[in-house]
Amino acid sequence: MKEKSLLLIKPNAVRNKHIGHIITILEENNFHFCALKIFRFNRELAEHFYAEHKGKSFFENLLNFMMSDFIVAIIVQKDNAVQELRDLIGDVNPEKRKPGTIRYLYAEGITENAVHASDSIDSAKREIGIIFNTENTENTEK
Ligand code: CMP
Repeated sequence: MKEKSLLLIKPNAVRNKHIGHIITILEENNFHFCALKIFRFNRELAEHFYAEHKGKSFFENLLNFMMSDFIVAIIVQKDNAVQELRDLIGDVNPEKRKPGTIRYLYAEGITENAVHASDSIDSAKREIGIIFNTENTENTEK
């Protein structure tokens, strides 16, 4: 079933000039691009996006990192996109990252981990709505 998911290229990967290669990896893995933008998080938007982590020990550090530079957001579409994109980015835990994953290549720590991907179909809908200011992305269908 065709699904949409959201990928964020985070500030450390943008600063290190990995946008192009990360997009190439997505293309090589047959993800279709529905929408793409570059933006900066302010505190309110970052808090809203990461609301499920509010109160956790890493929350402030995460917000400061995510506000530290530009972010590239891409809506991708593919059969089983949510799981396939999660597999392609690799684990949040540095010790569990497999070679070939984007985080294995470009993460610099547990927070500075180069990319974010939605963890379920519902989160993808929510996150796409927050970043692209719409709950309905049907106009981005191919
Ligand atoms: P992301 O996939 O964007 O989702 C939450 C982010 O919090 C995660 O990637 C990391 O950047 C950051 N983070 C920092 N510490 C942790 C942790 N212990 N567990 C999960 N996420 C963490």
